[in-house]
Amino acid sequence: MRIGLIGGGTISRLVLENIRRGALGSFEVVALMGRHGAAPRGRELAREFAVPYVEERAALLSTRPQVVIEAASHDAVREHLVPLLEAGSGVVVLSAGALVDDALREAAERAAVRSNALFYVPSGGIGGLDALKTACLAGVDEVSIQVAKPPAAWKGIAYVERQGFQLDGLTGPLTLFEGSALEGVPHFPQNVNIAAILSLAGIGARRTRLKVVADPALELNTHTIRVSGRAGRLTVVLENVPAPENPKTSWLACYSALAALKSLAPGARYGT
Ligand SMILES: NC(=O)c1ccc[n+]([C@@H]2O[C@H](COP(=O)([O-])OP(=O)(O)OC[C@H]3O[C@@H](n4cnc5c(N)ncnc54)[C@H](O)[C@@H]3O)[C@@H](O)[C@H]2O)c1
Repeated sequence: MRIGLIGGGTISRLVLENIRRGALGSFEVVALMGRHGAAPRGRELAREFAVPYVEERAALLSTRPQVVIEAASHDAVREHLVPLLEAGSGVVVLSAGALVDDALREAAERAAVRSNALFYVPSGGIGGLDALKTACLAGVDEVSIQVAKPPAAWKGIAYVERQGFQLDGLTGPLTLFEGSALEGVPHFPQNVNIAAILSLAGIGARRTRLKVVADPALELNTHTIRVSGRAGRLTVVLENVPAPENPKTSWLACYSALAALKSLAPGARYGT
């Protein structure tokens, strides 16, 4: 299968390493798209793995990818998702937070149907979405997620700085946001994509509750999902190891991109 990549960071590196090792099946990376004027990470990564490097969507499409993995940013989703689907390329979206925008998501859903193209948002750094989807069919009253990470993971975020939160020297947990996923996700473009995924698989971003916590006692990114409804209650707690080069990203989320690729190969499928 011919794969395109958008983004030259932690997730793209893991995908390239695993495809090169043949760990996922038969995949060929036909292009890596970086951002014009950005730090040369994408270009260097492409060179390291001997993959063609491009900066324009037209150049990416000219390499005829069957599926493009977006591992870049909310901006990249806004810019490229719908045109790629319209051009008939499948897209796996990691920066799922961009999809709490109903207009963008619905345009992408329509484009995917029109082109018969795959539009796939993998589970990322969370689990339990199979049970959530089933519970929703029975009727769900509440879905919530608490995203708690060590203080370092919340640095360099404009919303956190604007609110004047002091992350250095914290002695106990500090709540940075509490409210709907719809309101909260855009405040943390690199950290709470999982709240968007939970919303999309469940009852939507307006009704899904999000609490964001900086906790100096934590070493692992700790996500607690609670669902209650007619079929019963469900609690899922994930303790995720942060990616070594990027404390905002969890290893599980990176591997979720690989699991998504594996699931595209023909053959048996177990669970979601
Ligand atoms: N779904 C999930 O559970 C989950 C979990 C972790 C990360 N993510 C998201 O996945 C994305 C990639 O994560 P990462 O850890 O590899 O990030 P990273 O910061 O290591 O790398 C991202 C790369 O993408 C590039 N980029 C940004 N915008 C671009 C654009 N418009 N076009 C081309 N390149 C662009 C950046 O320059 C950077 O090199 C991020 O948006 C991150 O928030 C999702």
